[in-house]
Amino acid sequence: MLENFQQQRYETWRDEKLANYCSKSESLFVEINDPLKLSNAEKKAISNNCISNNLSLIRIKSSGVIRKAISSINAQLGLVDFDLHLCAEDDGLVVIEDTKSPTKGGYVPYSNKALNWHTDGYYNQMDALVGAFSLYCIHPATVGGENQWIDPEMLYIHLRELNPDIICALSQPKALTIPARRDGNKIVREASIGPVFFIDKASQKPKMRFTQRKRNINWLKSADIADALCELNNFLSGVSQIHHRYKLASGEGIVCNNVLHNRSAFVEGSLKKRKLLRGRYKNSIATY
Ligand SMILES: [Fe+2]
Repeated sequence: MLENFQQQRYETWRDEKLANYCSKSESLFVEINDPLKLSNAEKKAISNNCISNNLSLIRIKSSGVIRKAISSINAQLGLVDFDLHLCAEDDGLVVIEDTKSPTKGGYVPYSNKALNWHTDGYYNQMDALVGAFSLYCIHPATVGGENQWIDPEMLYIHLRELNPDIICALSQPKALTIPARRDGNKIVREASIGPVFFIDKASQKPKMRFTQRKRNINWLKSADIADALCELNNFLSGVSQIHHRYKLASGEGIVCNNVLHNRSAFVEGSLKKRKLLRGRYKNSIATY
């Protein structure tokens, strides 16, 4: 199963990745002066962070109308092919908040509960996966609501160095099935069947499709997948050099190539609700 990322090519890629990777979250911030017109230096800095870490943090000095500002930043980074999922509005953005609204109510992202480790859109078809997402903080929670993230390429390297069998098991084409979603007799989303790790055809780099959710999910029944999942989940629940933890403040955001991430549970203040704006895109962040 590793033949599509043959050892010698893997080692060259791995050494370059490790040489360029930045382990300090604070160093990944790029200050944005005018969201409607990014400077070449701002675009280059975000792009460089996404090449080394698949993620950049941003801090916006003045934002004006925030939806327009975020759509504009994302478009200037090449993120235009937005994922029209159930809750997205016409500009592809969605407000992430604790709400009982009929379209969002019942889904964990739109509650104050913790979100386990996942990549966005893991339930999409393999040819329509989410390549990138952005998360922008309008108001943080009073307590909690922190994000953790891990660059999937670094996780791939960690696991392959630990034991290549883990990568082999989780690269099986039918490792993880998310069953179809039904509304009565009608199928509103087809079943999604695919691997956890795969080599992206365009970039020739490892990508990931994963969720820690326990219900309504089918792992291929085999001892090697069970062992690999045990290793993966043990690693995710710990702390390491490649675990990043950060609580976005007002005016701060993340743009990333769909890194693995989670969120802690939160408590809101009585005056201001926790409010974030998220965009999801099929393509990845452009390189400048
Ligand atoms: Fe997410």
